[in-house]
Amino acid sequence: MDALKRRNPNLTNLWVDVLVFAGMLAVFAPGLTGLLIHEWLGLAFGVTAGVHVLLHWQWIAGITRKFFTRASWGARFNYLLNAAIFIGFTVVIFSGVMESRFVLQTFGLNPPDERTWELLHRLSADLTLFLTALHIAVHWRWIWNWVKKLRRLPRRAPGTVSQPVLAAGPVKIED
Ligand code: HEM
Repeated sequence: MDALKRRNPNLTNLWVDVLVFAGMLAVFAPGLTGLLIHEWLGLAFGVTAGVHVLLHWQWIAGITRKFFTRASWGARFNYLLNAAIFIGFTVVIFSGVMESRFVLQTFGLNPPDERTWELLHRLSADLTLFLTALHIAVHWRWIWNWVKKLRRLPRRAPGTVSQPVLAAGPVKIED
């Protein structure tokens, strides 16, 4: 991970973001994947989202330090939005595990006989989906810049690392 980040932190961020996004689309559609895949994918998504947070740790630490003094209003808004999303997904995953039919069983446990976790799971999933859509909308320019940059790249042999991508300067994230 460190070696990748040294080469081009933005490129690593981009692929982790793509993975998080694809995982999120699948995990929000249990009707399509079936419950067994949904539950394990939900857990895997939690791990990938954790990597996503770690990759943006410098940003988090920077804004935390200057939140009440020098941070811009935009950065404060992003910070609070991201914190709400983090809490939202934590609740979604925890309540999902508590009502799980397969994951708990794997560990020889049974879900508690009440509907609270199911209601909490649905409510927190809906709310978190809305907040995540807002998060993507806010970072739309960053995503679009990358799409344009990748489209301009020449085709290359599989397994080789494209020099233009490695040389590409950082795509600025507003803070
Ligand atoms: C980011 C992670 C997750 C998201 C976004 C998510 C989202 C959802 C959604 C949208 C539904 C359908 C609710 C409905 O029918 O209205 C659902 C159902 C369900 N999820 Fe998840 N889920 C996640 C993680 C998990 C995990 C980790 C587990 C268990 C280990 C789990 C267990 C379940 C179960 C058992 C159902 C069916 C019962 C119900 O409708 O609540 N989910 N989930």
